[in-house]
Amino acid sequence: MSGKETVSQAGESVAWRHHHVLDVDDFSTAEIELVMQTADAMKDVLSRPIRKVPALRGKTVFTVFYEASTRTRGSFEAAAKNLSADVVNITAQSSSVTKGESLIDTLNTLEAIGADIIVMRHPLSGAHYCAAPYVKANLLNAGDGWHAHPTQALLDLYTMRRHKMSVNGLKVAIVGDIKHSRVAHSNIWCLSKMGAKVTLCAPPTLLPAGMDDPQGRFPDVNVTTDINAALQDADVVMCLRLQKERMQSGLLPGLREFTSGYQLNKERLALAKPDAIVMHPGPVNEDVELAGDVLHGPRSMVNEQVANGVAVRMALLYLLSGSKEL
Ligand code: NCD
Repeated sequence: MSGKETVSQAGESVAWRHHHVLDVDDFSTAEIELVMQTADAMKDVLSRPIRKVPALRGKTVFTVFYEASTRTRGSFEAAAKNLSADVVNITAQSSSVTKGESLIDTLNTLEAIGADIIVMRHPLSGAHYCAAPYVKANLLNAGDGWHAHPTQALLDLYTMRRHKMSVNGLKVAIVGDIKHSRVAHSNIWCLSKMGAKVTLCAPPTLLPAGMDDPQGRFPDVNVTTDINAALQDADVVMCLRLQKERMQSGLLPGLREFTSGYQLNKERLALAKPDAIVMHPGPVNEDVELAGDVLHGPRSMVNEQVANGVAVRMALLYLLSGSKEL
């Protein structure tokens, strides 16, 4: 079996078939498994004294971020450099977008410069889907509007599996601003596919409509506005940031109401299983979605998620590149 295959439950080997990574909704369970196994190999690379392998030598990775980012952009850059790629970083403020160039023209320009892989974050949901047919380089979605954040969902899954072996049958409570969260949307696809029991919990105005439709796409997802019900016996509690930048006014009476109704504090965490882990994609508004002592407590995976993100992004860059070297 090569490094680009895994064995599915039915016993056949599964090869990598994605030219772009736009979301996880078109990944099979075997493909998700392949990403997880490749991330394990990358984790091994990261544990060595010299954390560098030649897999992407001679390839150029462009990161193009039209939105603020610390961990995702930094993590992609570190991941690409660990694989020996050359990395060029473009931000919206310094790109020709400010002069009126279209997104597709910008991406084609980066290809003409020599981009083999383009990692892009864009504020418009679906931007990557519009651009992908016009891009020959591999396009990797680092977040599009409210829609998707596939690498975050995969690194979240990876982190859960390192603590819980398998997510099949686990109760995962996702609490906070579900409506505006691309992290929630990709996680719902990924976790549901891997057999987790997902419960979404938010004030009514921050819950997307139709998620609990038994005839809908996610018949097994539970939706509640009651945080105690959501946390009861949870194996994993994932809190999400209030996305004030995407919120129209009037969705919440105020921060204090959100905090008193939905903040994960020690008392509430006691409702979850004794070995429950706490996750958050970051950036965290300390003492809003997570109380400080929970954020910095022993069950918090927040920094581990960031560290695992490098391995998972190395895995995706490696799989997309078609490299056989590790
Ligand atoms: C998230 C994002 O940008 O979608 N952050 C991240 O990538 N780690 C979540 C957020 O901004 O709240």
